Amino acid sequence: MTRARLADPQPAVSDRLQARLAARLAARGIDPAAPVLADTPEPIPALEAAQRRIPYDYRDAFADHPAVMAWVRTIAGAATAPHTDDHNPHWGSGGRRVIARGPSLLLWGNTGAGKTRQAYGAIRSLTAAGCAVRWHAVKAVDLFGQMRQRSGVDVEWLLRDIARVPLLLLDDLGAGKSSEWNEEITFRLLAWRGENHLPTLVTTNLAPIRTERTDPRQPVLRDKVGDRILSRLSGMCTPVEFDGPDRRFQRA
Ligand SMILES: Nc1ncnc2c1ncn2[C@@H]1O[C@H](COP(=O)(O)OP(=O)(O)OP(=O)(O)O)[C@@H](O)[C@H]1O
Ligand SMILES: [Mg+2]
Repeated sequence: MTRARLADPQPAVSDRLQARLAARLAARGIDPAAPVLADTPEPIPALEAAQRRIPYDYRDAFADHPAVMAWVRTIAGAATAPHTDDHNPHWGSGGRRVIARGPSLLLWGNTGAGKTRQAYGAIRSLTAAGCAVRWHAVKAVDLFGQMRQRSGVDVEWLLRDIARVPLLLLDDLGAGKSSEWNEEITFRLLAWRGENHLPTLVTTNLAPIRTERTDPRQPVLRDKVGDRILSRLSGMCTPVEFDGPDRRFQRA
């Protein structure tokens, strides 16, 4: 019997074992040399990935309001590819455009008129325009719920994270009960975003301020969120009114 010396290279699996393994695989119709199949039929494009985070009702949303379309064009136009400066020419192409600073929108008007749908449509349009969009959407009442102190969660960190997200949809502002604490959270969020020109889509059922057209029995956004927040909103947002009928009723 010839003994292998320690220095001789040894196969990881002995020839006999390898032959048995090959026979078993062949019996099951498996070719070990075949390329590994991915779990998904093809790589998931950005739009599809964004799509999964959009509520089911708005997955086919399309921004067709002229003011919202204009906003999408402005934001997409201001998006820049990272590393496109002259400092790093050896880095090759600039990469995918990321959305940067830009104006915000306040979509306000009747219940069911399509504000939230337009907002999700805008997010989808930006993704479809080839922009890398890190976005977050939250209803104001849910935000306040998430901000309540609880063990194991650093709510300060959470608020800072949401404040810094490149694109934020703050849905249904003024829909819940107002309180000093809610006001403070909203103020901190919007003040940071306003000061840093981070694009924000805000929706609300309430008219921003009282005018002669406003029903005197209805509250306005200023009553609900206070002057300081309204001032921030006026500084950073273009108001867009939705005065159409409630589409939920129409659908029913
Ligand atoms: N252009 C549209 N085409 C088809 N369906 C629409 C359109 N606009 C809105 N809808 C549908 O109508 C319903 C109400 O729209 P949406 O939720 O956007 O209204 P809203 O103005 O945000 O209402 P609320 O003030 O109650 O939050 C949704 O089911 C939405 O999918
Ligand atoms: Mg809505």
